[in-house]
Amino acid sequence: MASEQKSWQARISEATDAIAQAFVESISYDWRLYKHDIAGSIAHATMLAKVKLITDADRDAIVNGLREIEKEIDRDGPKWAGFKPELEDIHMCVESELTRRIGEPGRRLHTGRSRNDQVAVDLRLWLNESAGKLCGQLDDLSATLLSLAERSRDIVIPSFTHLQRAQPILAGAEALAWATMFAADEERLQVSQVRGVFYLDLYYDCPLGSGAIAGSSLPLDCGCTASLLEGDPRRFKQGPSNSIESTASRDRACDFVYCCAMIAQHLSRWAEQWIIYMSTEFGFIKIADRYTTSSSMMPQKRNPDMLELIRGRCGNVYGDLFALMTILKGLPIGYNRDLQEDKRIVFRAYDTVSQCLTMAAAIVNSASYDKDRIEPTLDRGFLDATSLAEYLVTKGIPFRTAHHVVGTLVAKCEKSNRYALSQLSVEEMNEVIASSIALSSTDQSQIANRKSQIQITDDVYTCLGAANVVKRYQSAGAAGGKPFEDQLKAWKERLGV
Ligand code: ARG
Repeated sequence: MASEQKSWQARISEATDAIAQAFVESISYDWRLYKHDIAGSIAHATMLAKVKLITDADRDAIVNGLREIEKEIDRDGPKWAGFKPELEDIHMCVESELTRRIGEPGRRLHTGRSRNDQVAVDLRLWLNESAGKLCGQLDDLSATLLSLAERSRDIVIPSFTHLQRAQPILAGAEALAWATMFAADEERLQVSQVRGVFYLDLYYDCPLGSGAIAGSSLPLDCGCTASLLEGDPRRFKQGPSNSIESTASRDRACDFVYCCAMIAQHLSRWAEQWIIYMSTEFGFIKIADRYTTSSSMMPQKRNPDMLELIRGRCGNVYGDLFALMTILKGLPIGYNRDLQEDKRIVFRAYDTVSQCLTMAAAIVNSASYDKDRIEPTLDRGFLDATSLAEYLVTKGIPFRTAHHVVGTLVAKCEKSNRYALSQLSVEEMNEVIASSIALSSTDQSQIANRKSQIQITDDVYTCLGAANVVKRYQSAGAAGGKPFEDQLKAWKERLGV
């Protein structure tokens, strides 16, 4: 198309170079904004009619034309005939097709508007909607984790700190740990996009009415446009607080991609954990074969490729965050075409995270803990050492002394080729307790007193062994016992299952 045919390029003396045209276009990806663009245009036209800048008949022609176009794009997707690269972007494609259909009223739609405020509003609407969709997916994933936690109620696994055996936990408690991370992601998304509860009113602003940068000399009712953008009424509280900021800022896009990066981080940690659990060395988790692949050379292989890709794609999303931050670095205030790149980034970050969430939910749904592999070694690694120290605390021994007692008992086991504290006799334990108390104080009368008081009995064995320990947890959010049941209950309430 020659540039004199482009209605918005009358002052440009020659046709856009073909290379430049292909370079500048964004319709190949920003067509995804068509619904948001049309919603913005309908609100804008309605406002224009309200302030009498266009007639009610113009408005009706515009609204009906746009609704028709929307239906066609719903049907044809990116193949819709109105998407023409020479028209550059979604805004020009929709407006130009509208004008082709309805004539002059179409030429009035852009009154008091620029693509700069148009794209800002489209992007905000898209971010808001996409944040909502991700929240739904996070809930779906949490529901699969909750169900895994429920069907694994009787499975105890070791927990790990420093990837060394730590304390016993219910397998389900770890499943709910991931769900709790995803719940935090959901809150982050809601705070930044959906609920609009933010400290600054700026976040409620609807950019329409800002025009290109300075606003307009026409009597636009920006508050009216804001309130017309249906959906969550808190989405836009008012028109722009500052037309320059409104067209130049991409803060919400940054917030969104950061939220995506956090989801990707959590997914990658979960994926890594399960990859480790699926190794022959661990053998804790089994997932369905349909979520694994084999090797072209080694016939025995069953590789967790989907989990590895979830782990790896986190790198892409971090890259997206960095790309957006870098595009914005040092950018002069006011619209600059650099900002067009924001959409590639938010779409890519969203698509990656959304696909990973779908994949993750399917994998979790198919997963089970392998009790037969977990149980034989469960009482290795002295997982109950902390439980024993806490038991000693209940007998009046200071925690530091108890810690020393149990450390000594573990060393004693290892020296005498015993792998578990439950293999020690009560007498052996009392001996170590007595000598540790002697070591821990200089006050002789107090020592004599303590030694005669602190004698443990057979009930010590109720705090030993991984299966016993998990039943004893009492503190809020703990990985077994009533606190675990409380977590299950809270999750069921939250997800309504
Ligand atoms: N396609 C552009 C973008 O996505 C729309 C705004 C273009 N504005 C302009 N003055 N060239 O950012």
